[in-house]
Amino acid sequence: EHIPLELHKVRVVQKLHLVPVERRLAAMQEAGFNTFQLQTKDVFLDMLTDSGVNAMSDNQIAAMMQADDAYAGSQSFARLQSAVEEVFGKKYLLPAHQGRACENILAQHFVKPNSVIPMNYHFTTTLAHITRNGGRIVEILSDDALKIKSTNPFKGNIDIAKLEASIATHGAGNIPFIRMEASTNLIGGQPFSIANMRAVRAIAKKHGILLVLDASLIGENAYFVKQREAEFKNASVAKILLTMCDLADIVYFSARKVSSSRGGGICSNNKEIIDQMKNLVVLFEGFLTYGGISVREIESMAVGLRETTDETVMSQSPLFIEYLVGRLEKLGIPVVTPAGGLGCHVDAMGFVPHIPQKDYPAGALATAFYIASGVRGMERGTMSSVRDVHGHDILADAELLRLAMPRRVFTLSQVKYVEDRLAWLYKNRNLIGGIHFVEEPTVLRFFNGRLAAN
Ligand code: F0G
Repeated sequence: EHIPLELHKVRVVQKLHLVPVERRLAAMQEAGFNTFQLQTKDVFLDMLTDSGVNAMSDNQIAAMMQADDAYAGSQSFARLQSAVEEVFGKKYLLPAHQGRACENILAQHFVKPNSVIPMNYHFTTTLAHITRNGGRIVEILSDDALKIKSTNPFKGNIDIAKLEASIATHGAGNIPFIRMEASTNLIGGQPFSIANMRAVRAIAKKHGILLVLDASLIGENAYFVKQREAEFKNASVAKILLTMCDLADIVYFSARKVSSSRGGGICSNNKEIIDQMKNLVVLFEGFLTYGGISVREIESMAVGLRETTDETVMSQSPLFIEYLVGRLEKLGIPVVTPAGGLGCHVDAMGFVPHIPQKDYPAGALATAFYIASGVRGMERGTMSSVRDVHGHDILADAELLRLAMPRRVFTLSQVKYVEDRLAWLYKNRNLIGGIHFVEEPTVLRFFNGRLAAN
């Protein structure tokens, strides 16, 4: 068995609380059976997300001290720009306060009523912004992508034949851009290959369509390319990152994920495109040299981006995820394979097959796992989906409990605790029942919705 090694040491610590099971049950009831509504004082291991909670490096924290606090012309922003140019190879950068703010700007600028956006797979906020502007999405993954168990190393690949067919059906004129999401989040942090991105790029170019890369999880995708794509076996992560970004006309990112800080950005070498979106940045985000991000965060973003090129940094989450996935598979617990980036994804339909999809099996599992362990995961299934025009749930393609592995945060013994508690819960899975909404927001309902046991 491959034991992952922490290639860093702990120098600042935060005390955790493992509250008794009685309190966990009460806390979950108070939270309306929604892990987003839990308070961290009741959470032992917070595996809700990696967003904004990856560990920061000593160099990132040191950089925050030299922040140049200015409304306009901040040198902190100039340092971020040069980091973006060095790591992503893009000269022009628009800052935004986080990833979905980039999506807001891109969608407002490019998406019109009847626009169609082909993509490998949607992310919740991406879909919300595209539909809000009257567009719709088509997901054109390969057939393997939604299979829980697979040996396909690149489940995030776009199916090239389907992409061609989709362009023929919808017409290139109705497609403002094709979107590729690195380490495709909702299907289990699954990467695409550079060979695939090259093929997508060629088709986009042929039809005069822009290629937009969501780089929020680009570091992990680059790491997997190095591990799994023969051509890049000996390439540096830095080189792989540049190769990927070079294929995209526009790269946008959530810095909360990509560089363990806050903020986000849209970058391109096409000055015209960037200039056209500037008005939206000053309208919604802030001046062009801070974009709603504090200068301290801008400094840590710059350092974090450069650290994305360091294989010893980028390998950490994937190695720990691979370890946990391997252990769970040995126990017969259904998990998404191959192990991806971002987290370990437990297949709720396999774990609690007695709960029908309409009763939110992944949400129910997230709830039960918190009560059984104090570990907070995130539902990624129908609860995170939307309703159709008739008010019926659109059942998700997969029902996953995501146990995020924020970068360089947890130790191996903590990961083993997760394994142990999941093993216990799997043995006692008949205790778990379905849930339903009692308060349901109309937008991104999973964040603030409240549910109850059936
Ligand atoms: N794109 C991807 C692929 C993401 O994973 C996220 C966020 C966003 C865009 C939006 O960025 O949160 O900074 O506004 N993912 C987080 C998660 C929320 O937990 O997976 P944001």
